[in-house]
Amino acid sequence: MPKLGVNIDHVATVRQARRADEPDPVWAAVEAELGGAEGITFHLREDRRHIQDRDAKLLRQTVAVKLNMEMAVAEEVVRMAEELRPHQCTLVPERREELTTEGGLDVVRHRTRVAEVVGRLKTRGIVLSAFIEPLAEQIRGSADCGFDAIELWTGRYAHAKTPAERESALAEIRSSIDAAHRLRLDVHAGHGLTYRNVRELAATPGLSEFNIGHSIVSRAMFVGMREAVREMKALIA
Ligand code: PXP
Repeated sequence: MPKLGVNIDHVATVRQARRADEPDPVWAAVEAELGGAEGITFHLREDRRHIQDRDAKLLRQTVAVKLNMEMAVAEEVVRMAEELRPHQCTLVPERREELTTEGGLDVVRHRTRVAEVVGRLKTRGIVLSAFIEPLAEQIRGSADCGFDAIELWTGRYAHAKTPAERESALAEIRSSIDAAHRLRLDVHAGHGLTYRNVRELAATPGLSEFNIGHSIVSRAMFVGMREAVREMKALIA
């Protein structure tokens, strides 16, 4: 059964809308853990639009489950990760104008820089995961760069408009899982997963971790974070 990492960025998004001190993503992380989250994920973006340096430091001190830091390969953020030493870093692409991480990191095109960052962070004892699209060359490229794991971008699956589109996206994910396992890469999944679409993906063998943010934070507004996490975990199970 995949473990659930809860992405708390959007709690910080609400706080930053007013540059206030609430709601606190650190508090959200505690509530998510009490609801059964097996991991807490945050994205320290270069533009600091949601999570702030203070949040990253406090999360590192307080989260008792796996702490997964999503990050671009920008030098300033890499240095923060070296200092923080979260359990896992997931390398993602980042564009300033995007609403959220759109698509995967191109580990083939950016191989030199990505491999350098992977090497540096691994010497700090951090597990490295590559957020990539479910494509054979990106999976091979991730292994070549020295990653321990890949996180498959599930956007095509999540945004499928017809059962045929969804089945084709699932088939792509299944063959990606096989290819990754042959290269001894652990396989995670994330992006656009919701209470409506998570079950089918959770039934796909070989996925060890889901990272879910927007849908859980949205539901938490109505039922609270603990309950929102419990409900998502029940669907995954
Ligand atoms: N995984 C990665 C690598 C992401 O960048 C994001 C978005 O921050 C997520 C998972 C969570 O996506 P969503 O908010 O759509 O659940």
